[in-house]
Formats: sequence, structure tokens, C-alpha cells
Amino acid sequence: MRTIEWRNGTVITIDQTRLPHETITLKIKTIEEMAEAIKNLRIRGAPLLGAATAFALALTAYHSKANSKGKLLAELENSAKTLKSTRPTAVNLFWAADRVLSKARCSSGDAEELKSLIVQEAQKIADEDAEANLAIGKNGAELIEDVYVILTHCNAGELATVEYGTALGVIRAAWKQGKKIKVIATETRPLLQGARLTAYELKRDGIPVTLITDSMVGYVLHKRLANKVVVGADRIVRDAVINKIGTFTVAVLSHEHGVPFYVAAPKSTFDLTRKAVDVIIEERDPSEVTHMGSQQIAPGGVGVLNPAFDITPLKYVSAIICESVIYYKEDFVRFTRHE
Ligand code: MRU
Repeated sequence: MRTIEWRNGTVITIDQTRLPHETITLKIKTIEEMAEAIKNLRIRGAPLLGAATAFALALTAYHSKANSKGKLLAELENSAKTLKSTRPTAVNLFWAADRVLSKARCSSGDAEELKSLIVQEAQKIADEDAEANLAIGKNGAELIEDVYVILTHCNAGELATVEYGTALGVIRAAWKQGKKIKVIATETRPLLQGARLTAYELKRDGIPVTLITDSMVGYVLHKRLANKVVVGADRIVRDAVINKIGTFTVAVLSHEHGVPFYVAAPKSTFDLTRKAVDVIIEERDPSEVTHMGSQQIAPGGVGVLNPAFDITPLKYVSAIICESVIYYKEDFVRFTRHE
């Protein structure tokens, strides 16, 4: 099964907050349920947020009683507004909402035709993501040699996408080619996407994985325990890559130790109309830092900073692997020209 699927007016996915211990299937039927699932990271990871947003708009269309195109468009715009208010940083969510809305606005059919058009467009977005990840994997695997150790941060695996993964797609493709690679996964505080999700996916697939805490990255790179770093992205802007908090630290440490730092992401993650300064970095609830699950670990009332993402300037990025091409350092200048 794909990470997300459309089944006759219901979106089927897994509650990622319960992994790795429990596999709970979510059956989402309304925009409110989807918005709740996104806010609480039951559904997370930039490309998956894109597909989830598209399918959420398909839910609006499929269940709508609107009998005119105008009424349906108004409902879709309302749903898009709700979805866009869930999480601000991953551009795929906004990209998918705008793509579906513009398809709807351009359609010349009646309300019934528009409903099926929206469902088809959402399915197309999901299918394209699955295809893009396979292509990213194939492109990126060329950069990975036999017996390499790859360090990754957060979860850019199949759970963060419709299928296969971006950073983990590169790792999967190299593994499939018979390269005896190993992975070092950071736990990724505070919500532990690395410990819970990346370790789970790789272990399940039989790819050797060693878990470290985020603060061990410097030690690992200094000791030459990893040959390359591959991570995903939530938004690639003209001057930076925005990804899970801690990515910037990993990039600077990679630069310091001469270890190539690669970003694997589909074109839907590019936002070349903006610079990092224009992007809202999501601030999440302090309890994610003061608590481990339900257990409080910090003294009550302590001040907390909890940005969910950070900004890695392109000077620390060795290459960006996407579905159509690998951009190397010398290509990044093209980003300022929106190419
Ligand atoms: O807060 P999350 O879990 O949604 O953050 C996910 C990440 O930062 C991933 O690295 C990114 O979305 C790329 S996923 C292919």
C-alpha cells in the first residue's frame, strides 16, 4: 500500500504519531479531520503534505452538494484556506492546493464534471510524487558508492511521501543496485522522526541502520564514520534549503569535515520566487521540548524555543537531487533566475 490512498471518497493513511509500535489506519472523510491530522503530524513530510492537501480538496469536491460551479469553487477555496492554515513551512502543501484550485478555476465543465476533475487531479499529484521519488532514487544512487555509510536526518522516507521516499529513496535505490551501504540516522529531536520512522522503515526493509542522537553528528563526521549525508527538504528557495530543525547543524559539520551534503527533493518542493527570509518557519508547542511523550522532563514554566525547521544556506549544499536532474553547486546560480 502507498502511504496515502484515495478510496471512493475516503483518504486512507497511517497515523504516524503511533509508529513504530502501532500501525493505526486513518480513514479521513472531511477537511477538518485532514487539518487535524496535518497539524498533529499524523500525516507529515513535505511531499506527503502535498498529496494529502490535494486529496483533502478531492474530499470537498466528492462530498459536495453544490449544484453550480461557482458554489463548488467557493467550497474548494474555503477548504484550501483551512488547509493552508495548518502548517506554514512545507511548500508542497501550498503548491498542491494552488494546483488543484487553478485546475478548478480553468475548467469549463459543470459542477459534476468539476467534481470528478478535482478527484482526478489529486490522484495525478499523488501518482506524480510516487514517480518522482523513483527517479530521484535512480539519479541519487549514482552518487553513492559500494560500502558507503550515509548519514540522514529526520524522515525523508516513504512515510514522508506517497511512496519510496526522497533521501531514503536514494538509499533504497543504491541498496537495490546491490551496494552494501549502511545508514546512520539521527533521532531528530524533539518529535523523533528519525528514531521512530526512519529507523522503522530501514529496519523493516533490511537496510542496516544505526541510530544516533542529534548531538553525535559532529563526533561521527570527525571520526569519518559517514561518507555522505543525504536529507530531504520542506522548501528550496533561491538562497537556501529549509528542512527539519537540526539540518543546518548537520550541513555545517559536513562542510567542516569535507563530507558531501546532498538534498533529495522533487520539483514540487522548489519555491524559487522566494528567499529564506520570506518563509515562515513553523513554531510548535513548547510541550514538545519540555516533555518526552507524556512525561515532563523540564521544570514547569521554563522558557522554550521550538522552531520545527531551519535554514541551510546553499553554500553548505553539495548537490540537490531531483527527479529530472542533479543540480551541483555551480548550477545554484540558476535558482536566482527562477530556472
Ligand atoms: O515536521 P515534519 O515531520 O513534517 O518534517 C519533515 C521533514 O523535515 C522532512 O525532512 C522533509 O519534509 C522532507 S520529506 C521527503
